[in-house]
Amino acid sequence: MPDQFLAVEDARISFGKGSARVRALRGVSVTFERGTLSLVMGPSGSGKTTLLSLLGCLLSPDEGIVFVDGVAVNELSVSEKTVLRRQKISFVFQAFRLLHSLSAIDNVALGLEIREGKRADNMVRARELLLQFGLRGKLNHDPNELSPGEKQRVAIARALAGDPPILLADEPTASLDAEAGRNICQILRSQVDQNGRTVVVVSHDPRWKEFADRMITLSDGQIKQEEQGNKA
Ligand SMILES: Nc1ncnc2c1ncn2[C@@H]1O[C@H](COP(=O)(O)OP(=O)(O)OP(=O)(O)O)[C@@H](O)[C@H]1O
Ligand SMILES: [Mg+2]
Repeated sequence: MPDQFLAVEDARISFGKGSARVRALRGVSVTFERGTLSLVMGPSGSGKTTLLSLLGCLLSPDEGIVFVDGVAVNELSVSEKTVLRRQKISFVFQAFRLLHSLSAIDNVALGLEIREGKRADNMVRARELLLQFGLRGKLNHDPNELSPGEKQRVAIARALAGDPPILLADEPTASLDAEAGRNICQILRSQVDQNGRTVVVVSHDPRWKEFADRMITLSDGQIKQEEQGNKA
């Protein structure tokens, strides 16, 4: 098998039983090349979040194989899988999921601590990330004192703490206005161009096409279309 950096092969997964059974993915095979931004599109219920959850080792397929950093995840023990996920993968969500009792910088530092343990320089590194995303004046603000776009930048800084090679984003711009959304597109694109990360974005938002190397459309648990993005 050539370099399967991040991929699923003939993945199938169902939820529920009997008449309530939903076949969320029905034989999906797709490879995400290292150092690219891929956009996953498709109608509600087509399996986008399920696919992202497989790539992120949050779910296991009923059948098929998931590769992360070239490793077949199904061959790992539960603890090996946790280590792989912690070292290689980060998530960004539509709803930001920041901790509201913590300041922006503490949210990012906690992200680092979870990945790498308590280290003396965690606050320094958290600060650097927030400065990089234009949040200099907001380090000690609580999330509820930030705009949606600022919250998403904090969430991305937290996700990037620990330098993961893979970033998975589920509708990261769906709660943002046009300007803030574009800013997030640029930030995630720069993670590919400047840091060589591999980014997979699930989104209905057509403005992502301009930032994507590749676009995959799911329909009813299967890949309906694969095309090049404008960055390819
Ligand atoms: N944990 C679950 N339990 C039961 N059914 C589920 C579960 N997760 C997903 N499904 C079902 O699997 C199908 C695919 O869901 P998924 O969340 O992947 O869709 P999606 O493309 O992300 O949709 P959306 O655009 O609404 O987020 C849907 O029919 C959904 O109801
Ligand atoms: Mg979804």
